[in-house]
Amino acid sequence: MAKSCFLSLQFISLLFFLFLSAFPLSFGSNVETQALLEFKRQLKDPLNVLDSWKELDFPCMFSGITCDLTSGKVTEISLDNKSLSGEISPSISALESLTTLWLPSNSFSGKLPLELLNCSNLRVLNLTGNEMVGVFPDLSSLRNLEILDLSLNYFSGRFPTWVGNLTGLIALSMGQNEYDEGEIPENIGNLKNLTYLFLADSHLRGEIPESIFGLWKLETLDISRNKISGKFSKSISKLQKLTKIELFVNNLTGEIPPELANLTLLREFDISSNQMYGKLPEGIGNLKYLKVFQAYDNNFSGELPAGFGEMQHLDGFSIYGNNFSGDFPANFGRFSPLNSIDISENQFSGSFPKFLCESRNLQYLLALGNSFSGELPDSYAECKSLIRLRINKNKLSGQIPDGVWALPLASVLDLSDNNFSGPISPIIGLSNRLNLLILQNNRFSDQLPSELGKLRNLEKLSLQNNSFSGEIPSEIGALKQLSSLHMEENSLTGSIPSKLTDCTRLVNLNLASNYLSGQIPLAFSLMSSLNSLNLSRNELTGLIPEDLEKLKLSSIDLSGNQLSGRIPSVLLTMGGEKAFLGNTELCIVENSKNIINSKINVCQGKQSQEQTFGDKFVMFSIIISALVVAFAGLLLVRYKNFFKQGQVDRENDLDPNWRLASFDQLDIKADEICNLEEENLIGKGGTGKVYRLDLKRSGCTVAVKQLWKGDVLKLSAAEMETLGKIRHRNILKLYASLLQEGSCFLVFEYMAKGNLFNALHRKIKDEEPELDWYQRHKIALGTAKGIAYLHHDCSPPIIHRDIKSSNILLDEDYEPKIADFGVAKLAEMSWKGCDISSLAGTHGYIAPEMAYTLKVTEKSDVYSFGIVLLELVTGRKPIDEAYGEGKDIVYWVWKHVNNNENVLKVLDSKVTSESVQEDMIKVLKIAILCTTKLPNLRPNMREVVKLLVDADPCIFKFRGSNSEIKGEAIPLKLVC
Ligand SMILES: *[C@@H]1O[C@H](CO)[C@@H](O)[C@H](O)[C@H]1NC(C)=O
Ligand SMILES: *[C@@H]1O[C@H](CO)[C@@H](O)[C@H](O)[C@H]1NC(C)=O
Ligand SMILES: *[C@@H]1O[C@H](CO)[C@@H](O)[C@H](O)[C@H]1NC(C)=O
Repeated sequence: MAKSCFLSLQFISLLFFLFLSAFPLSFGSNVETQALLEFKRQLKDPLNVLDSWKELDFPCMFSGITCDLTSGKVTEISLDNKSLSGEISPSISALESLTTLWLPSNSFSGKLPLELLNCSNLRVLNLTGNEMVGVFPDLSSLRNLEILDLSLNYFSGRFPTWVGNLTGLIALSMGQNEYDEGEIPENIGNLKNLTYLFLADSHLRGEIPESIFGLWKLETLDISRNKISGKFSKSISKLQKLTKIELFVNNLTGEIPPELANLTLLREFDISSNQMYGKLPEGIGNLKYLKVFQAYDNNFSGELPAGFGEMQHLDGFSIYGNNFSGDFPANFGRFSPLNSIDISENQFSGSFPKFLCESRNLQYLLALGNSFSGELPDSYAECKSLIRLRINKNKLSGQIPDGVWALPLASVLDLSDNNFSGPISPIIGLSNRLNLLILQNNRFSDQLPSELGKLRNLEKLSLQNNSFSGEIPSEIGALKQLSSLHMEENSLTGSIPSKLTDCTRLVNLNLASNYLSGQIPLAFSLMSSLNSLNLSRNELTGLIPEDLEKLKLSSIDLSGNQLSGRIPSVLLTMGGEKAFLGNTELCIVENSKNIINSKINVCQGKQSQEQTFGDKFVMFSIIISALVVAFAGLLLVRYKNFFKQGQVDRENDLDPNWRLASFDQLDIKADEICNLEEENLIGKGGTGKVYRLDLKRSGCTVAVKQLWKGDVLKLSAAEMETLGKIRHRNILKLYASLLQEGSCFLVFEYMAKGNLFNALHRKIKDEEPELDWYQRHKIALGTAKGIAYLHHDCSPPIIHRDIKSSNILLDEDYEPKIADFGVAKLAEMSWKGCDISSLAGTHGYIAPEMAYTLKVTEKSDVYSFGIVLLELVTGRKPIDEAYGEGKDIVYWVWKHVNNNENVLKVLDSKVTSESVQEDMIKVLKIAILCTTKLPNLRPNMREVVKLLVDADPCIFKFRGSNSEIKGEAIPLKLVC
């Protein structure tokens, strides 16, 4: 019956259309047709969804258009997520019967046309997720509006107060626009029929107006991500129909009022990242429909209401970063489909809750940084759904239930800093999705199972400070993704397996303080990505492989072994003698002895010759170092004389007007440097011109930067010295500087592959991009390390101020080096009193806060670095007309990601493939985090390095499901 009814309806409307299309030019419809065609003309329609909009057709036949069947007038335009762009034409004001304008999730831009006010029948206006700008016109004359959604655009100006006149509104969604800072208008309280109120991320400050608590029909209240202050009002209990309260990331204070428990329909509650304190009212435990409870990052204390253990719908629970204490409700999770729980960084004690995975639905279990004691309950052995298990930094002990070693989906298993004992079970081979296996600082023992070699996705293996014994399984060589391997402070024996060199991505290797014997494998010199090598305090014998010099290590420690023979000079320079102490048979060549006044023996003639003859390279480097020592000595004298007394050493053959300061061991002559030839010009930038120069004496190639002339740029000797002292493998080395009144030359190492910006857009044959994803990741990580070094390891910290892809240079092996650092900062010092902002940074890389503050912080570098990451991931330029007028790559990416589009569309199609896609998305997430608008929500560079190394595939999936990084509190719609 229903069917025949439907058919007949369809039949009637068909007749109706046939009838009308017989008179296509009837007056009314022609006006409407023209209005719609004009609307279409203003748009780009890449998917051709408006193909059916044709001159001679009746508008009711157009796709996305609905008409009133009796009058034949257009009542509805509904084009949801159709990739349309362009401006909304004022012509639609001719559609006088229009009740619904539904255009969400497109790329409509421009202002909201004032003519819209003529559509006085409008009931529904939904433009969410577009790119509209400007100040809203006063829409309060649209008295019939019931649903108004203008959220997620770029509207600006003051938050509109006219919304308070639209008393018919049922849903009001104005959040995520670019309003000026302001308060929530009191008159929103007039909207008595409102069920849905969304004002998130709208620069709102002040208190929540009391009038809002009169909106008794309200079901959703979302004022998250503003600067709302004041106490959490107990009047909230008047809103009896509330199912969802989102107040996270504000400045609310006070305790949660017990009256909250009267909201019996409440399903979702989020008060995270405020300044709330006190105990949670006991009654919250009685909210039987509660599904999501988030209160992380506050100052709550006391015990959790026991009622949480009785809940039946709870699936997300996050309270990390508070002061909760006492026992955890024993039944927590027993009756609910718990999926994600983060109770990290509190002071819970007693035994570890047993039922969290009772429904076999738990994916995220984070309880690090508490005082739980006793054993990890057996129940978790069956928790096959787990993706992250982090219970580090507790007082747990005993053996790990066997099944926990074999969680098939786990990507992170972190049991570190407890008192666990017993072996790693060989069934760990089944846990083959693991990225991070972190067991450090426990009492684990026995042999390491060879099955560790099955963890093909492992990136970090931290086993240090346990009681593991036996040999290192050579199967670990199969771990191609491994970047960090820590096994120090155990009781490992036998020799170092040379198979370890198969771990081609290994960056950190630490096997210190074991009983390892035998030789350092020769093949170690092939581990080209190795940055840090620590084999100290073992029983290693034999020579140090000469070829280790080829590695670009930034730290090495071989002390406390029984190594013998000559210390390769490059290693000695890099590690200093402390890296070799405690090896009585090691020696150094005589010449180096002079400079370091060493405790290490000088090689006997025969000893050193044995090793050096027949090896030209070594011979060469000895000669070089001898020369260098002499030259450095000379320079040191000159340098001191000059900078102390401002005198020039006449004995030297340099032009007395030139002041050369060398920070490295390179043989540089001043006259060579100042006679630069224009044909060797390799670049020009904001601070000067760069030339390539082949040094005559040494045959080395260097880059010389000639800073723009002008008396404003006087780099002081002390500043130069600071720059010269910076030594990091990812920071361009400054070899020397040459100063004369008004001119300054800086001599840097020469980078064969030029800068990253060019490399990203270069193609090699077959239109292949020059940089594949692996290289790009390496560049990202190296650059991050370099910046982290400037921010965290230099004293005082150095802020680069001009991080951009063209300031990241690449050597032969595509190792990145940051250039131009410090110059901007130094420039600032001598430009005192001038407008500094005009100097800092490059368009497209400048952090948004620079618009209103001149105070440069590390976080502005983080932002700029985020832009570089976006370039690496998308292959696009920071600024491009394609993004739209005045828009940049951040906006472009943000738009695609926020529209819930397929994230894959953002990735550079030239390098993406199934195998790297996931990694690229990880880096994309880091980039988004770095380019967060609020500086204090951006991670610092140490954290960025960690993220790039550890990048966890699911870090954003649940807001706050992980307490490691601030700023995760921002919900992103990325799903991994
Ligand atoms: C506006 O449209 C989007 C997309 O269809 C929808 O998710 C949203 O709920 C709508 N807004 C309102 C207030 O109904
Ligand atoms: C809005 O309402 C106020 C009083 O509630 C009134 O004074 C004002 O004129 C109204 N604005 C419009 C545009 O109707
Ligand atoms: C509020 O909703 C009720 C019931 O739907 C309706 O009768 C009333 O007219 C609405 N109020 C306004 C101001 O539109």
